[in-house]
Amino acid sequence: MKISEKYNQVRQATIDFCSHLEIEDYSIQVVQFASPAKWHLAHTTWFFETFILKNYVKEYTEYNSNFNFLFNSYYNNAGDRILQANRGNMSRPSIDKIFEYRAYVDANMQELLNGDSVKKIIDLVTLGLNHEQQHQELLITDVKYMLGHNPIFPEFNSGFNLVKDNNSSNEIVKIKGGTYKIGYQGKDFCYDNELGVHQVYAADFEINNHLVTNGEYIDFIESEAYTDFNLWLDEGWSWVKANNINSPMYWHKIKGKWHYYTLSGLLKVDENAILSHINYFEANAYAEWKGMRLPTEFEWEIAAQKLDWGKRWEWTNSAYLPYPNFTKENGALGEYNGKFMSSKMVLRGASVATSKNHSRPTYRNFFNPVERWQYTGIRLAK
Ligand SMILES: [Fe+2]
Repeated sequence: MKISEKYNQVRQATIDFCSHLEIEDYSIQVVQFASPAKWHLAHTTWFFETFILKNYVKEYTEYNSNFNFLFNSYYNNAGDRILQANRGNMSRPSIDKIFEYRAYVDANMQELLNGDSVKKIIDLVTLGLNHEQQHQELLITDVKYMLGHNPIFPEFNSGFNLVKDNNSSNEIVKIKGGTYKIGYQGKDFCYDNELGVHQVYAADFEINNHLVTNGEYIDFIESEAYTDFNLWLDEGWSWVKANNINSPMYWHKIKGKWHYYTLSGLLKVDENAILSHINYFEANAYAEWKGMRLPTEFEWEIAAQKLDWGKRWEWTNSAYLPYPNFTKENGALGEYNGKFMSSKMVLRGASVATSKNHSRPTYRNFFNPVERWQYTGIRLAK
């Protein structure tokens, strides 16, 4: 597929998801970490304008000189910006203006992609498209957070229950100890944090090819695990106590039965379906309760071919750190992944909310251990 077609396809997928939103849904920011849909639509556009159009189109006229301040996310090299917590404070620019901004940038991008200098920018465009795909997943999880914290639990779309998948099998995979190569070795796109192929030693280990289900997790809850400090990491126990946590995000006990908010509305928890929306502390406590552990990110990658993956982002027991020989670009794009390599844990796999063609066995996702609004799950190892 030509890059110009690929560009249209990815950009359109963002718009398609938004077609289910009401106008009032676009601007709301319920919590700092979940951005408004309007901001995602503009920020992904800003990325192409800032890193491609402004650098590669002679005498490019930027759409609006305020937008760099409004829609820069975290790139210090790209200048000052509004606080993340203030992204929901902007009733203006209106959503119509943002769609106009997208159309303006898309028209300029198409001219560039169909011109002679396309070869020079192909890597940047590919990064921009992968960036947009990451934001497509964030759009889903941020919209779910907004609607799931609305007391009337509005349905986003009746056909969009993303938490109904079951495991396809129930086996234990045994891996022989030895030295294995870790990191991306292909020729297609990957992020800088997957590069720096290196050898890692793993001892013999076993890893489930399936993920923990809701029913299994209900057993954990009903064993009073949320009140047993022996199961929890200290930071996790403080989080449980400070926030009165007793179940995964979006779960509610109604008339003695567990329910959860899904994008198809409030439903009874399906005990056979795969668990979602737990943080690293809950994943770790569950593993402790089972007398098992979470896999390291290296064990996960070694076993990947034998695992059923792609339905949940799976917490690993690995801190998000640079691989040996990790290098980053100079300037703003060097800020993409590298500067977040502290205080975060690696998640492997991909989730039901991840865009198509945006996952691979070497992909390293990372979040703060406390976060659970992504479609996260638990795979056990020992
Ligand atoms: Fe971004």
